Formats: sequence, structure tokens, C-alpha cells
Amino acid sequence: MPSPREASPALQESMDRIADEVNRTISRLLPETDLAEARLYDAMRHGVLNGGKRLRPFLTVQSAKLFGVDEARARRVAAALEYMHCYSLIHDDLPAMDDADTRRGKPAVHKEFDEATAILAGDALQALAFEVLADPETHEDPRVRVELISALAKAAGGHGMCGGQMLDLLGETEEFDVGTISRMQRMKTGMLISFACEAGAILGKADAARRKALRNFAFDLGMAFQVTDDILDVEADPAETGKPANQDAAKSTFVTTLGKEQAKMRAEMLVQQAVRHLHVFDERRTTMLREVAFYVLERRA
Ligand code: IPE
Ligand code: IPE
Ligand code: MG
Ligand code: MG
Ligand code: MG
Repeated sequence: MPSPREASPALQESMDRIADEVNRTISRLLPETDLAEARLYDAMRHGVLNGGKRLRPFLTVQSAKLFGVDEARARRVAAALEYMHCYSLIHDDLPAMDDADTRRGKPAVHKEFDEATAILAGDALQALAFEVLADPETHEDPRVRVELISALAKAAGGHGMCGGQMLDLLGETEEFDVGTISRMQRMKTGMLISFACEAGAILGKADAARRKALRNFAFDLGMAFQVTDDILDVEADPAETGKPANQDAAKSTFVTTLGKEQAKMRAEMLVQQAVRHLHVFDERRTTMLREVAFYVLERRA
């Protein structure tokens, strides 16, 4: 009997379709070049078009759908977010950070190219994310575009992903309490996942209550996602995750601090809590978001 929380055929089909379509947008907005800087573009494409679950794009497209947003627009925002996410992974894998040689089953960008090229590829992907959001094709209303840019900047910056990565590194030499670990997870991973959902509400000019509900959903889901990533670090097969295992032994995570079983219970509780925030929406319209939340718990990659 398959686990009831394995991705249902409908969820799998929707994730596959959205991943395919967003991959086309990602590739189209990041074309190869034959100019002298071609090596940089090859490295950027290697870092972005090398697989990946495309969970954040799925969340953006599904959230935008709740507000009747044109899917082509949602896909552009999803592509921008994926550029930002992939930049964070390219830099995360560098020797100065996690020193990981593989990503998504392929050589990390600094292994396929070199460290300096990997740094530049990350930098250029971050800039491209904002360039895509600033383009009128993303939304005709400049206020919407500025709101998207501002929200992504906050999610990625010093009190967001980068700040969280700083805490992650400090956690190798300092012992964090559970509150600080929660804050670190929220910053390094949760905030980009929150942006994924909130972007749908921004594109759809959603009212405050529904925007808040999505933000709260994503807040808990993002935390659960990083807790399961830390569980997979000790438990999963690198052949499935495509990245090295046991990278976090010296880090402060819920797994290293509370143990695997407590971490699993925490992830489970967070997902239950996440889906409760969706009650403000018509239940039939949030099926995919609820299903993907439970899939986050059961994922093997
Ligand atoms: C990995 O993210 C890094 C974390 C924030 C935990 P994903 O597990 O979403 O990686 P890809 O995009 O599927 O490779
Ligand atoms: C990375 O967390 C979070 C980022 C902001 C990139 P991890 O270091 O645990 O991610 P993986 O396990 O390398 O994908
Ligand atoms: Mg890391
Ligand atoms: Mg890492
Ligand atoms: Mg990890």
C-alpha cells in the first residue's frame, strides 16, 4: 500500500507540468550567448537548469491561481525566485561555506567550472531575478512590480536568506538554543518559501486577510521544509537527493540539537499548522497546496 502522504497522481502531475513550463521560462529568460562572457552564462545555466524539484515555482503558480492570476505572469515570478534560490545553492556549496561537490546529482558549479566563476554566476543570477521582476511583462502595474522586488529583496537579504546563512555558519562554533535555530531556519529557507506564496497574493492584489493566511501557511511550511532537509541530511540516500549526506554533523539544527524523532514530530506539527491557515479559502481551491504541504514531510529528495 502506498503511503497516504506520497504525492498523489494529481499532485505529481501538477508538479511535473508546472516544473516543465517554468523550466522553459527559466531557459528563455537566461539564453546562452556567444559573447566573450559565455562561460558565465554557461555556469548560470548549469546552476539553474540542472534539475531541482521546483517546489518554490509550484507554490507561486498555485498561490497565484487562487487569485485568478494569468499563469504566464506567475511563471515569470517563479523563474525569478528560482534564479534567487539557485544562486543561494551555488554559493552554499562553495568551499568557504558547505564545501559540497555535488548538487542535484551533478557537479556543483564550482566543480564544473571554478570558484570565481561560481561566485559570479550566483551574483549574476541574483541580479537577473530582479531584472525579471522589474520588466513590465511581469505585471503592467509598476506598484505591483515594486512590491514584488521589495518583498524578494527582504526575503533574500541580511535579515532573510543571507542572514540565515550567516547564522548557519556561526552555528558551527556556537551552540544555539531552539529559538535561535527556529529563527535561522526561518531566515535561511522560510523567507524565500514565504515569498513563493506571497508573490501569488501580490500579483493578484489580494486583500490583507487572504495574503496573511498565505503568508502564515508558507511560514510554517518553510520551517517544516528545512527541518525535513536536515532529517534527510542524516537519513537520505545521496543517490536520491543528488547532494552529499551528513553535511550538518557540526551544525546547529533541530536534528543535531533535539534528535531525529523530535525533529520529525516538529515537522509534522508545523505542516498540520500550515494547512490550518488555508481555511479562509474555499477548500476545493487549495487541494494542491494542502497536498504539497504533506508531500514536504514524506519527500525523499
Ligand atoms: C535545498 O532546497 C536547500 C534548502 C533550502 C533546504 P531544495 O530541496 O528545494 O532544492 P532543489 O531546488 O529541489 O534542488
Ligand atoms: C541551505 O541549507 C539553505 C540555503 C539558503 C541555500 P542547506 O545547506 O542545508 O541546503 P543543502 O542541504 O545544501 O541543500
Ligand atoms: Mg548550508
Ligand atoms: Mg548546504
Ligand atoms: Mg541541508
